Amino acid sequence: MSLQFESAHFVYKPTSTEDEDLFLEIYTNSEIMKFVATPLSFDDATKLYESSLLEWDFQSGKLLTFVIRCKKTDGKIGLCGVKTSDIFTKQGHIGVMLLSKYQSMGFGTEILIALSAFCFNSLGYHKLLGPPVPGNTKSIKMLLNAGYQKEAVLRDNWIIDGQYIDTPLYTLIETDFRKQFTSELFK
Ligand SMILES: CC(C)(COP(=O)(O)OP(=O)(O)OC[C@H]1O[C@@H](n2cnc3c(N)ncnc32)[C@H](O)[C@@H]1OP(=O)(O)O)[C@@H](O)C(=O)NCCC(=O)NCCS
Repeated sequence: MSLQFESAHFVYKPTSTEDEDLFLEIYTNSEIMKFVATPLSFDDATKLYESSLLEWDFQSGKLLTFVIRCKKTDGKIGLCGVKTSDIFTKQGHIGVMLLSKYQSMGFGTEILIALSAFCFNSLGYHKLLGPPVPGNTKSIKMLLNAGYQKEAVLRDNWIIDGQYIDTPLYTLIETDFRKQFTSELFK
């Protein structure tokens, strides 16, 4: 199975040996990581990058990371990915992280719709869960634009800067996505 896909403006490919700089730039950047998690040290970001090069399968529980490239310029604009959270019910956590200069340009929504379609069509997920995003207005709007619905608020579900925080849970079920986004995405 090919793990490569595309949308109107972008191509998505699994991490390769040429992507270490992008990983380090994103995961150690306090601005990009503000609503995601405590920024990683260079050592930890390097370890995460190295693990992203290992083979992925649905049951591995490993994060499958895609490098997002602009079709027009071939430049890398960020990362997105999915990680299986429950094998039996086919659930996965998704995430999108863009370099600062490519944020707020309308890219996130296109990327999340494409990632969700690939997860349902090709990877076999049934339900996708958004990242913990309290206060992350852009991310919440992006999730809603892609058809995700607020399902619950999970108490003390995440830690940022050493503090437990409650997180809203946004989810998308395959059948709802198919109703909302037809034809083009489900050829
Ligand atoms: C979250 C993220 C992926 C969103 O992608 P994006 O390309 O920046 O978002 P978009 O430009 O597609 O905008 C999404 C929505 O947020 C709105 N938005 C954009 N910039 C905004 C801002 N500065 N303040 C408030 N809303 C904003 C847009 O208007 C749009 O909503 P709309 O369609 O209702 O108008 C991106 O900002 C990012 O990588 N942030 C850092 C990492 C992160 O927090 N990732 C999410 C958790 S994994």
